Amino acid sequence: MPMMMLAVGYLFGSIPFGVILTRLGGAGDVRAIGSGNIGATNVLRTGRKGLAAGTLILDMAKGLAAVWIAQSISPDDAIIAGAGAILGHLYPIWLKFHGGKGVATYMGVALALDWRIGAIYALLWIGVIVIGRISSLGGLVAAVSVPVAAWALGHPYWLPLLSALTLLVLWRHKENIGRLLSGREPRIGKGSDAAD
Ligand code: G3P
Repeated sequence: MPMMMLAVGYLFGSIPFGVILTRLGGAGDVRAIGSGNIGATNVLRTGRKGLAAGTLILDMAKGLAAVWIAQSISPDDAIIAGAGAILGHLYPIWLKFHGGKGVATYMGVALALDWRIGAIYALLWIGVIVIGRISSLGGLVAAVSVPVAAWALGHPYWLPLLSALTLLVLWRHKENIGRLLSGREPRIGKGSDAAD
């Protein structure tokens, strides 16, 4: 049943909460502002903190829900459902496969797979953002931690798939990485926080 779990995960992950919430909240289309990304960081650039928080929570929840559902139906395929959720968020059919960058959804997936991996992810993600005030940097560090933490915490069999997912999240951040390397990545809450 791996293909079915992949499809279930994809369906959850492909719900573009950032687009839905900004539209419902009268903030326009999040894809037209800032970085053009559909994630919570870019929703925050609309100035609507509540919509950003809602996007963050729901994008995490869809990853969490996909893995939890798979765990109750076919536990061995839970990680496949998580992969499906991240693929769905990155490449949603509803947005012609132009989706987000996967950081919040990966958080939910990590938490559901093993709460310790999720806790490390959350600590690094929040810690780097609090210290550095750069959202993408926090997400990148957290995403890299997932396969490392899975291996260290006794899940070596998850390593290939989690490494692939992390590489995919890094790939979706290629513009952010370019800006980080050239010192042009915007900081949260600064006037310059409108990535091109
Ligand atoms: O979670 C997305 C974040 O890592 C980067 O978002 O809009 O600054 O490219 P953004």
